[in-house]
Amino acid sequence: MLITNATLPDGRTHIDVLVQGGRIAALGAKLAAPEGMQVIDAAGQLLSPPFVDAHFHMDATLSYGLPRVNASGTLLEGIALWGELKPQLTQQALVERALQYCDWAVARGLLAIRSHVDVCDDRLLAVEALLHVRERVKPYLDLQLVAFPQDGVLRSPNALANLKRALDQGVDVVGGIPHFERTMADGAQSVKILCELAAERGLRVDMHCDESDDPLSRHIETLAFHAQRLGLHGRVTGSHLTSMHSMDNYYVSKLLPLMREAGVHAIANPLINITLQGRHDTYPKRRGMTRVPELLAAGINVGFGHDCVMDPWYSLGSADMLEVAAMGLHVAQMTSQAQMRQCFDAVTVNSAKILGLDDYGLEVGKAADFVLLQAGDPIEAIRLRATRLLVVRRGQVVACSAPAKSVMSLPGRPVSVDFRLQR
Ligand code: FE2
Repeated sequence: MLITNATLPDGRTHIDVLVQGGRIAALGAKLAAPEGMQVIDAAGQLLSPPFVDAHFHMDATLSYGLPRVNASGTLLEGIALWGELKPQLTQQALVERALQYCDWAVARGLLAIRSHVDVCDDRLLAVEALLHVRERVKPYLDLQLVAFPQDGVLRSPNALANLKRALDQGVDVVGGIPHFERTMADGAQSVKILCELAAERGLRVDMHCDESDDPLSRHIETLAFHAQRLGLHGRVTGSHLTSMHSMDNYYVSKLLPLMREAGVHAIANPLINITLQGRHDTYPKRRGMTRVPELLAAGINVGFGHDCVMDPWYSLGSADMLEVAAMGLHVAQMTSQAQMRQCFDAVTVNSAKILGLDDYGLEVGKAADFVLLQAGDPIEAIRLRATRLLVVRRGQVVACSAPAKSVMSLPGRPVSVDFRLQR
């Protein structure tokens, strides 16, 4: 396959991409197509590496309304509701919902997902189901699993043993939820235990960390401390970090360099954070999303995750990482040209770094995975939630969509519009 005349996210234009044997064989201007090769004219549109979702819950996705809807809309009612649903889960239903979500993801050009999987059910039903799904989707989607003790690794009986069993079965990453443990001290202890477990097993860490509006929640400090102590530089991620929104500014000025020094990644989940946080506030209501521009300015890698789609915590969503980027941009007021591009990076390259995807990126020698968007650049892609014209995995087209346009019938006006600026 030869893609011609593409624009890349870094601003390069008129770029051709030659794919051979499922890998990018050449990338540059005016490449020649070998005899009989499929040639696709990108017509100046944006060719991006695939979207990456750094934080998701595939065991809960598409379960909206089962067994009932979250009436208060809070995080805690969502956790209670998930607890009601858990005993009713069947492996077949889990697999079917996950596979359906993966279809949506591929259609949206989302080809790598890190999903947490709850290990607090002694049957480990969801673990087994998602390990099966990980294999099923492997040809077209990288699914990375995090052993997530939803009810607290110390607070919930058997959780630590179950988490270790899940890792034994092949789950990739060690998870945690220190702010949900009974005390701050237990939370800190859980971070220590889980980081040591990851270090022993040579695994990455990704914890739900300080997902509250509590300005005094300090588990990210503990997480950075153990990452540093155990030499886990670049392999540890703090997810959510919403308490940072409410923290004292002086304290944050100390915390950011500690995170940077420990090589800790951060993940914000804009759609979910803006929906779930600040629920105990009257007015003004806090937004609850972590300090994304400040983290980036401190040299910390930040990814955006979708977190939830149609589950006990969130009733909307459709695997569209451009919707996630748009919400992150708005909530963090990242409106400069450079910042809008950073929001695109947060759902592509930054998240790929968090997952440790070595084969990712539009470079010679990397896997031929990419998405052609009906947009001229990353900012336009976010503005339009651009149509994924073509989704390619290992050099094969795995999804395509017709360009979005409206046919008009206005006297003396154009016959169609596609919402791109005509100058
Ligand atoms: Fe989450």
